[in-house]
Amino acid sequence: MNVQQVDTTRVRMTLRPTSRGKIVGKSQLLTDLVENIDRIARANCTVLVTGESGTGKEMLVAAIHDASVRAKGPLVTLNCGAIPEALLESELFGHAKGAFTGAHATRQGRVAAAEGGTLFLDEIGEMPLALQVKLLRLLQQREYSPVGDSKTYRCDLRVVAATNRDLEAEVRAGRFREDLYYRLNVIPLHIPPLRDRKDDISALVLHFFERMKEDLGREDLEGFSPEALALLETYGWPGNIRELQNVVERAVLLAIGPEVSAQDLPMSVRARDVRGAAGSGLPSELPAMGLDLKAVVDEYESNLIRQALARTGGNKNRAAQLLGLNRTTLVEMVKRKRIAS
Ligand SMILES: Nc1ncnc2c1ncn2[C@@H]1O[C@H](COP(=O)(O)OP(=O)(O)OP(=O)(O)O)[C@@H](O)[C@H]1O
Ligand SMILES: [Mg+2]
Repeated sequence: MNVQQVDTTRVRMTLRPTSRGKIVGKSQLLTDLVENIDRIARANCTVLVTGESGTGKEMLVAAIHDASVRAKGPLVTLNCGAIPEALLESELFGHAKGAFTGAHATRQGRVAAAEGGTLFLDEIGEMPLALQVKLLRLLQQREYSPVGDSKTYRCDLRVVAATNRDLEAEVRAGRFREDLYYRLNVIPLHIPPLRDRKDDISALVLHFFERMKEDLGREDLEGFSPEALALLETYGWPGNIRELQNVVERAVLLAIGPEVSAQDLPMSVRARDVRGAAGSGLPSELPAMGLDLKAVVDEYESNLIRQALARTGGNKNRAAQLLGLNRTTLVEMVKRKRIAS
């Protein structure tokens, strides 16, 4: 076996200067999670973070890295869902010159870039089966081979993976290797959706409010009206913290002041009745009081997309087929509408 050291300097890295001090929330569920970080960080073994879209998985991974003995090393992210299948292997392991058309030079992958640090495999549920075998080898033997290079390279890194899919269901459906699942799931960490930890909402609203006020030069704003706060606290937040952050940002931008009022919140947060009507089918008649057409159509689309994703276990290819959309169009809509997928 030819074991070689690799030069890691040429690979683009994703370094995230986050720390667990930035995780906001006071619910018991979140406090328990944060208390575990130090212990988990020290353990150096593989961690699998699960949770709906926008719940803070990436933030938690950064906190684990920052609290670990590898904190001085790099935190390198690979989003398995964002890179075309054909390129994923070379992104992960690198490739040799001439390995495929367009491979004009040897290029190192994220594994080499993460040497001495943490490799964060985001959306691990999107990884194709063929590559899953190679990842298993990396986890078990700490060895890998770049595409088109028969040599074996060793690495020293910690793997942390995240997904918003139900991986056990993926295993049952034959789309995810069972052995890899157990290998990744040494320490499972689940971040509950915001609707299950409503105690965090007010703290998060305040946190983002203070930040946006400064960023957007709205020091004139004093806070939220009781009515606006009540709406924020009772809303279901399907897009979780990312959606909350966007809603607060928009409100800070739009508010006339001195308070942020209910009028400054988007229709989705304000008008439960509109959502309800759309959720159970499009209203066939225009209500006497009128409606917000965009919000109704938006909710109608979101509802069908959610159903398609649920029916296909989160498989975006098949969900797109069910909806007669391109995969890329669906992915773009899921992002834009902040749908938990
Ligand atoms: N507890 C928290 N305190 C403060 N900010 C948070 C918290 N949780 C999440 N955020 C913020 O919310 C946004 C979404 O979080 P993050 O990107 O970590 O979510 P995610 O679970 O990785 O989402 P996705 O599944 O869509 O990738 C980020 O801007 C993050 O900084
Ligand atoms: Mg993420």
